[in-house]
Amino acid sequence: MGLSSQVTLRPATIADALMLASWDREPHVIACSSDDPEAEVAFGGIEWTTEIAGSTDDSHYVIAEVAGVPVGVTHVCDPHTEQTHYWGEIEPGLRAIDIWIGPPEWLGRGVGTQMMTQMIERCFAAPDVTGIVIDPLNSNTGAHRFYRRLGFTIVGRRRFDEDDCLVMRLEKADWPVPARASPV
Ligand SMILES: CC(C)(COP(=O)(O)OP(=O)(O)OC[C@H]1O[C@@H](n2cnc3c(N)ncnc32)[C@H](O)[C@@H]1OP(=O)(O)O)[C@@H](O)C(=O)NCCC(=O)NCCS
Repeated sequence: MGLSSQVTLRPATIADALMLASWDREPHVIACSSDDPEAEVAFGGIEWTTEIAGSTDDSHYVIAEVAGVPVGVTHVCDPHTEQTHYWGEIEPGLRAIDIWIGPPEWLGRGVGTQMMTQMIERCFAAPDVTGIVIDPLNSNTGAHRFYRRLGFTIVGRRRFDEDDCLVMRLEKADWPVPARASPV
């Protein structure tokens, strides 16, 4: 990938709400949010203006851009402190990350790897953060492969409400993943 596809990150603002809602109609976004084959919108039709306005120090959204064009979004939170307690009982010193590409033409072009690498670096820059957890659907084998390549390992299968998920985790001690040995 050339320099033109360099990914930059910026905080999401409520001006992004319409765009995020349109991404929620993309089949690949719906598929990563639910196993319900009837679902027509991702994340149960989340209200983005409210969601972004409710951002806090311990739970917020980040937009990824290539040459000023938004291509994806990540959500990062401290699962121990954030107010929904989505993760239930979980120790301090972690971050939980969600990620998705919006426009389908940006899938599979390395953007997600750049986004996740930059988010991991940001999270681990905090001295108190020792690990990152994620919860892809158990059915999302493409995402599992993507995360494994970044060094995440499987913790186990877990149900979050209706969702059958596979919890994965990356320890700070295991980051960065050693570069693959070059062929001799
Ligand atoms: C997962 C995702 C963020 C990866 O970003 P990306 O830019 O597409 O990925 P990269 O080009 O950096 O890396 C390619 C890898 O991503 C994964 N991937 C590619 N397209 C994917 C898709 N539609 N769904 C899930 N994973 C996908 C595969 O592991 C792929 O590797 P492969 O070529 O060996 O199959 C992106 O594909 C995506 O947004 N998928 C749909 C939403 C999703 O599944 N998000 C994760 C929810 S936990």
